[in-house]
Amino acid sequence: MTNFELHHRNCFEWLKEQEPESIEAVCTDPPFGIVEFLPHEIEKMRKGKGGVWRLPPMIGGSQRAPLPRFTTLTEKELAHVYQYFKEFGNCLFPTLTPGAHVLLAGTPMLQHLVQKGMAEAEFEIRGAIMRLYRGFRGGDRPKLAEKEFSDVCVTPRGTYEPWMLFRKPIAERTVAMNLRKWRTGALRRISTDQPLPDTLQSSKTPKVEESISGHPTLKPQQLLRILCRSLLPSGEGTVLDPFCGSGSTIAACKAIGYDAIGVELDHLYFSELNRNIDALAALYPFFKGDVLDAHLTGGVPKMRRKQKMQIELLQ
Ligand SMILES: C[S@@+](CC[C@H](N)C(=O)[O-])C[C@H]1O[C@@H](n2cnc3c(N)ncnc32)[C@H](O)[C@@H]1O
Repeated sequence: MTNFELHHRNCFEWLKEQEPESIEAVCTDPPFGIVEFLPHEIEKMRKGKGGVWRLPPMIGGSQRAPLPRFTTLTEKELAHVYQYFKEFGNCLFPTLTPGAHVLLAGTPMLQHLVQKGMAEAEFEIRGAIMRLYRGFRGGDRPKLAEKEFSDVCVTPRGTYEPWMLFRKPIAERTVAMNLRKWRTGALRRISTDQPLPDTLQSSKTPKVEESISGHPTLKPQQLLRILCRSLLPSGEGTVLDPFCGSGSTIAACKAIGYDAIGVELDHLYFSELNRNIDALAALYPFFKGDVLDAHLTGGVPKMRRKQKMQIELLQ
């Protein structure tokens, strides 16, 4: 039986009130460029007009969901990204046990600012786990000169999303001693024979998951269950998602059997959390994040009879 708590709060304020050294891991997808989840930008996104949220071009006649555009960020806004993550790191640091790992989803162009901010807050930079998938970022020809420069792309076509990995320094002499005392300091292997790799094959969030939550940046359960599982080396402890959005991380923890805490600022997203978590956690009941390359199919529980749930191993 897992426990989860949900808080309708600003996570910066919430973190400052928590017991020191009380949380073992963090897995979160924070606002990448900060401005995109400010109340006035969410308002514009919900109205479908103006702001940093842009509708990408139609593909095969189907309209795609709005995406935030980070190339419009000014020098001042970029400096704010760094300051934001430095402050976030400072609020988070005391709450975590020594050796606790933090996974932050990011975007390649802003990754260095996030890492700089977290390092200033005394976290160790431990590389990143790359989610490999076919995204919509980059690969375009120069605007208004597409025909003239038909063989050119301004940036490479994005096929990965970095999940930046940080660790609060261990407090004991060795990792083994830290693991014994705090249960943290390392990552859980996929299996005894297989360490966690730093690239994970992923895909777009499946339609069945999008039909549960309309959150604009919903992450897939296949990815989140692998990531969350890896964060607690002994399988014990609590995973925090301070920017929990739809509740997808909390759902992944629930499916695995981990305790979790979610914090969300927006009233509408918060009001949908309990329902989303139950429905997302009920998908793919055999998948606990301990298989790489699992191809998940199947629907919400009421569809089970018609559409048999299965995990097909591609390898
Ligand atoms: C990128 S989304 C996370 C989406 C999540 N990965 C999912 O799968 O649903 C970031 C979320 O953080 C929330 N947020 C932004 N600032 C916050 C803050 N200071 N405290 C708590 N939540 C915040 C936003 O409302 C948004 O829902």
